[in-house]
Amino acid sequence: MKLELRGITKVFGPLVANDHIDVVVEPGTIHALLGENGAGKSTLMNVLYGLYQPDGGQILIDGQPVSFKGPGDAVAAGIGMVHQHFMLVPVFTVAESVALGYEPTKAGGVLDLPKARKIVKDLSARFGFDLDPDALIKDLPVGAQQRVEIIKALSRDASVLILDEPTAVLTPQETDELIEIMRQLRRQGTSIILITHKLREVKAIADEITVIRRGKVVGKEHPSASETQLASAMVGRPVDLNVHKQDPQYSDSLFEIKDVTVATDTGHILVDQVSFDVKGGEVVCIAGVQGNGQTELTEAILGARTLAAGQMLLDGKDISNQKPKERLRSGLGFVPEDRSRDGMIATFSIAENMILDQYDEAPFAKGIALSKSVINKNAEDLRDEFDVRVTSVHDPISTLSGGNAQKAILAREMSKKLKLLVVSQPTRGLDVGSIEFVHSRIIAERDSGIPVLVVSTELDEVVALADRIVVMYHGRVMGIVPADTPRDTLGLMMAGVPLEEIGNSAAEGKEN
Ligand SMILES: Nc1ncnc2c1ncn2[C@@H]1O[C@H](COP(=O)(O)OP(=O)(O)OP(=O)(O)O)[C@@H](O)[C@H]1O
Ligand SMILES: [Mg+2]
Repeated sequence: MKLELRGITKVFGPLVANDHIDVVVEPGTIHALLGENGAGKSTLMNVLYGLYQPDGGQILIDGQPVSFKGPGDAVAAGIGMVHQHFMLVPVFTVAESVALGYEPTKAGGVLDLPKARKIVKDLSARFGFDLDPDALIKDLPVGAQQRVEIIKALSRDASVLILDEPTAVLTPQETDELIEIMRQLRRQGTSIILITHKLREVKAIADEITVIRRGKVVGKEHPSASETQLASAMVGRPVDLNVHKQDPQYSDSLFEIKDVTVATDTGHILVDQVSFDVKGGEVVCIAGVQGNGQTELTEAILGARTLAAGQMLLDGKDISNQKPKERLRSGLGFVPEDRSRDGMIATFSIAENMILDQYDEAPFAKGIALSKSVINKNAEDLRDEFDVRVTSVHDPISTLSGGNAQKAILAREMSKKLKLLVVSQPTRGLDVGSIEFVHSRIIAERDSGIPVLVVSTELDEVVALADRIVVMYHGRVMGIVPADTPRDTLGLMMAGVPLEEIGNSAAEGKEN
């Protein structure tokens, strides 16, 4: 099926999110949409999927104009979409989730489960998915949940599959698997519209690339273009993909984690006797595959989880029993991994979200009335400094594009007077220009002399930012190594091999 978007225009109040966008997707091709945060990529896909009505322009399928009143119409026309935050219901089985997808109710409102089960089995076999139709969604890793979403779309005969940042939450191995699945789909004639900020993936798999900036198509690029070329086409200026930093200048400040253990209510150990320190003026990165205790460790640093054992000391003071609010107020900057769940209140305005834990403090509070003008000015200053693309700081924060929401949270946390900065997945969903900016801000915080702890599943990011790297596996520390440690060694530790078993020569790094 040939898909044409012609002159698609979509406005939100004064903002033109899509400005006469033309994209042609040829049958059986992978078409990448590249563009900075807030460029209008998700909006365009939501128009194509029938979630938004366009204010202008046309969608054509095989030359015939179509109009979609809702996703049902788009699905019927052969368009499938996997959203960035998938919408599966945790307590359903795989088969039930797929059944729900294609309005499969027999007379009497009963789901056609046998049929759904068969579809899951057939499609899994075809793509080598290894999905059990009776497994519960909540028990599946993120990568498998995404495969359920893909099966759901394919089970409704999608000829065009939209993937909006599908690899943002995947492990490197899951990403490779997804790329293979995309190739297979292409071979059998399915077209894919791929949105991603990862230029390496675009180069690996895209047949065509359309670049969007501030709602307009600014050009097409060839997959053979270099990452640097693609990056500057996206953001409209040269982007330096390397992080520049001097050797660390240590201050007297010190954050210490001593034998910290975190467990579930039922006694299941999530973080197992973890010890390391972060000196003022250095960046320590925690590397590891998602789900190896990093999240729970940061939640314990925030105070959202109690310690089963161990201690946390900031500048010699035991903070283990402080409440999150106390920690945040006494100088902890904290960027959570899941910004939409833990980092903001969706229905509050951008301005209100910018002062979430400071609202009853000067200069924002005056007696009991919040000082509106100060709150607004604060938000506008942060917007400018962090280049958060917003129409108005009074809009709900839920209207921000994925990457801009992330920048807003970073702006709030990094603008406080800090004694310790803890950032999880700092650049998830950010465009290359914003990554460059956020990395330089993290280094600036380090250079101001505070301890900085970064958790990242992106090895490139870890290696670029870290002065030292702590590798976690199954809740335990596999080793603490310098940033120039060979990647093979880091990879082995991430797979559960303790440093002492790897051999010193491999792990000592280049300078030793
Ligand atoms: N429902 C909405 N109401 C108001 N503004 C919106 C709405 N949805 C999107 N926008 C605005 O439209 C613009 C484009 O957003 P969109 O989500 O399409 O960007 P994107 O290219 O997908 O960015 P990202 O890479 O950050 O995901 C942004 O400025 C965003 O704030
Ligand atoms: Mg988006």
